[in-house]
Amino acid sequence: MKNLIESLNWRYATKKYDPAKKLTGEQLATLLEAVRLAPTSFGLQPFRVIIVDAPDLRTKLRAAGYGQSPITDASHFLVFAAKTDLGIKTVDEFIGLTAAVRNQPNDTFNEYHKMILGSIANNSPEQNTAWAARQAYIALGTLLTAAAMNEIDATPMEGFDRKGFDDVLGLEKLNLTTAVAVAVGFRAADDEYAKLKKVRFPKEKFFIEMK
Ligand SMILES: Cc1cc2nc3c(=O)[nH]c(=O)nc-3n(C[C@H](O)[C@H](O)[C@H](O)COP(=O)(O)O)c2cc1C
Repeated sequence: MKNLIESLNWRYATKKYDPAKKLTGEQLATLLEAVRLAPTSFGLQPFRVIIVDAPDLRTKLRAAGYGQSPITDASHFLVFAAKTDLGIKTVDEFIGLTAAVRNQPNDTFNEYHKMILGSIANNSPEQNTAWAARQAYIALGTLLTAAAMNEIDATPMEGFDRKGFDDVLGLEKLNLTTAVAVAVGFRAADDEYAKLKKVRFPKEKFFIEMK
């Protein structure tokens, strides 16, 4: 088993997948659980993750994704979709869940409820959806790390027509909109990108120390 830094050096945004190599059920479950356990602001998890299995949907998504082959060729393709209807119902549901899981009356969380709702009410629906999408990106990062640690290849993707993705998946009626997507699977033996050196700014430039 590689250590974390070795795993992060091993991973790369895979451009060409081996379509014959599929994740096991256990591997997929590990990645999905990593996504579910990712932290979110207030713990609200204001997004959903769509596991797109249907080949015809993946073909249509590829067309809306500038023809990028990982969309159809990777073992699995996931779309992270931000909620577009954040409001009192979302907060009620979350507080109800918290109370049930922690075995406490809903009233215990009245102040927390007020705080979350106040924060949402202060923003426009567009700002709330953008905020929801930011939470999805944190979960995407958690997935990418989990994948690398398990030697599963992944490609984070925002190179697609958002409206196209929303239309193919019928997200509007689910009060969702695409935030970001990820292909997961196993690299093709001839993916040239696997050989490229990582390009990252040096530490001295990247980190700003304030003493
Ligand atoms: C949010 C996000 C969106 C990205 N979108 C795409 C994409 O649509 N297609 C693609 O081939 N790579 C995409 N990438 C991969 C980046 O180009 C890649 O991560 C970056 O060049 C660093 O290289 P590495 O991941 O191989 O280390 C995306 C990466 C991130 C984090």
